[in-house]
Amino acid sequence: MPDVIVRQATVKDAEEIYEIEQLCFPDPWSLESLVYEFEENERAFYVVAELDNKVVGYAGLWWIFDEGHITNVAVRPDYRQRHIAEGIMGVMLQFTNEQGIYHHTLEVRPSNDAAIKLYEKLGFEVEGRRKNYYANNGEDALIMWRHVEEEE
Ligand SMILES: CC(C)(COP(=O)(O)OP(=O)(O)OC[C@H]1O[C@@H](n2cnc3c(N)ncnc32)[C@H](O)[C@@H]1OP(=O)(O)O)[C@@H](O)C(=O)NCCC(=O)NCCS
Repeated sequence: MPDVIVRQATVKDAEEIYEIEQLCFPDPWSLESLVYEFEENERAFYVVAELDNKVVGYAGLWWIFDEGHITNVAVRPDYRQRHIAEGIMGVMLQFTNEQGIYHHTLEVRPSNDAAIKLYEKLGFEVEGRRKNYYANNGEDALIMWRHVEEEE
């Protein structure tokens, strides 16, 4: 990924992350929720990718005991399919592995082929399904997990 900077996010990134949320999701997080994540939620960890002097993608995670629960992953529509999400998630997974988190999970819509392929490429597998999970259309959620050995 030439010229892309992948780094831990801070509250200064909240507005740009909010902008990406609005571009990417039918039920975006509010700016207040994102600011809360940075200022109050000690279990939250966010990574962003910067390119062309702006935040072009991000991913978030909550540390819950020895598990990482991925809250969101998104890339600006005009920056997709350049391996930016893969780079962001790779950094997030490696960093949290180094902190002792070897089990990561997330929910994804069965219709979200791009995201499922991304997660499979990173080693996630479907282990369950939540019925009527998404409020906007009642779509189920696939529950995916990635487990790695401590040596990795
Ligand atoms: C899902 C998303 C984050 C992928 O971001 P991206 O930066 O375009 O993905 P990458 O370029 O890093 O792709 C990595 C791998 O994911 C898979 N992938 C990504 N986009 C894909 C697409 N449109 N179709 C098929 N596979 C795709 C491929 O396996 C790809 O590897 P490859 O190029 O070597 O084949 C992006 O499409 C997005 O923001 N979608 C809207 C928000 C969203 O749905 N987030 C997930 C919520 S669960």
